[in-house]
Amino acid sequence: GHAGHDMGADQSATQQPAAPSQPMTASGDNAMEVLTGNTFTLTAKESMLHLDDQTMKTAWTYNGTVPGPQLRVKQGETISVTLKNELPEPVTIHWHGLPVPNNMDGIPGVTQNAVKPNESFTYRFKVDVAGTYWYHSHQNSSRQVDKGLYGSLVVEPKTPEPADKDVTLVLDEWMQDDSMAEMHGGGGSMAGMNHGADHAAPATSAASGHDMANMSDAKMMPLMYTIFSVNGKTGPAIAPLRVKEGEKVRIRLINAGYLSHKLNLQGHAFQIVSTDGQPLHNPPLTSGQLLNIAPGERYDLEFVANNPGTWLLEERSDNPGAKSLAVPIVYEGYEAAQAKPESGQLPVIDLTRYGEAAQSSFSLEQPYDITYRMDLNTDSRDGQMVFTINGQTFPNVPPLDVKKGDRVKVTIVNNSPEDVHPMHLHGHFFQVLSKNGQPVSGSPLVKDTLNVLPGESYVVAFAADNPGEWMFHCHDLGHAAKGMVSEVKYA
Ligand code: C2O
Ligand code: CU
Repeated sequence: GHAGHDMGADQSATQQPAAPSQPMTASGDNAMEVLTGNTFTLTAKESMLHLDDQTMKTAWTYNGTVPGPQLRVKQGETISVTLKNELPEPVTIHWHGLPVPNNMDGIPGVTQNAVKPNESFTYRFKVDVAGTYWYHSHQNSSRQVDKGLYGSLVVEPKTPEPADKDVTLVLDEWMQDDSMAEMHGGGGSMAGMNHGADHAAPATSAASGHDMANMSDAKMMPLMYTIFSVNGKTGPAIAPLRVKEGEKVRIRLINAGYLSHKLNLQGHAFQIVSTDGQPLHNPPLTSGQLLNIAPGERYDLEFVANNPGTWLLEERSDNPGAKSLAVPIVYEGYEAAQAKPESGQLPVIDLTRYGEAAQSSFSLEQPYDITYRMDLNTDSRDGQMVFTINGQTFPNVPPLDVKKGDRVKVTIVNNSPEDVHPMHLHGHFFQVLSKNGQPVSGSPLVKDTLNVLPGESYVVAFAADNPGEWMFHCHDLGHAAKGMVSEVKYA
């Protein structure tokens, strides 16, 4: 038996009557199914994923596709989503980034019992905050999300801000050889107690020649995950984004994978209009810089199609899978032209120096009711790699205890020599106040997932306004499975 939250309790979930199906519309360019309305059914089931003509995976899906359908809802509405489980394992749905009531957060053993095979559960909540979100299972999530149990959720603002094209691109990575899944916490529990399979799998072709056994997670992961996908397709199978000259194009990027992706938009200046669903103030036009998107993060980009031709939104990380991630941007009339990958080093956008200062709810100087420090680290226990917060693995990490109304300041320090930790807080947004001791100038920068590189430290603040028991964990779900989980607990 596994002790952690993520493995979950396996008592029955409440049986709920199924909701009627809703109308479906295909969304032209990005080939993702979009569901509208306020009543939805998501059926967790196994399905074949055709990454391209040659590459197939047995995926775990919502409604048979990876990503699952996009739920497109209106701010202020109350939605209801019935999860039916046709998989052999219990599953849940967590609404990543959305501040839902605690009992709708989808955490097995904490906010609900996991939904057992052949059972169902209906999530019902009001969507108050517009923006780009996603949903995924939170049961054994290092494995279930890796197998494809995720989809996107867009909350349209009350006052719509239409673009001519509005596409969602969900990024992920896959292994050539799925037997390697166990190496990254695939069979691990949140409590970090199950490491029998670590380093036991054979090397893949991509990784052969490397001494996997003595390699850090940070070095091994890019060698394991060498097929990068956009909306469930890789390489030339990725659907092009078709535009007309003069159009305003919005791209909603969601990273559902384990690796950070560095993206270059060729031929166009763009604005990052929001991150994690939260708008940035007066975002500048940017070009010749890479956008880094870490696991769990979202970025909404906008650009004007003012440079006819064929271009790429391309991955520029230097890891083996990078070539397989490129989205062609094809202007009407230029269908025959071939876009070419670019080369050369480009700087990465620093979000804490992006956008204009504006009125914000928190500052570094003001008094806080609660201060908490999270020291993140990589460690070895009994010959196995663990990921710690304040020297402990979950569930031994001391929780962040708050009461409703508290203003809370959290310092997050990454002491791992190589590992990147995208830290995700459930149920709340936080404002980023400083990075490495420097106050954030592009303020207010509000997020739910903050990518903390080795050696970096951040100070963030949030209002304790959503009572319950909430996870605060690394969204490298392999790190979470091996201990890097804390909680915010309301008295
Ligand atoms: Cu996206 Cu705790 O999760
Ligand atoms: Cu991590």
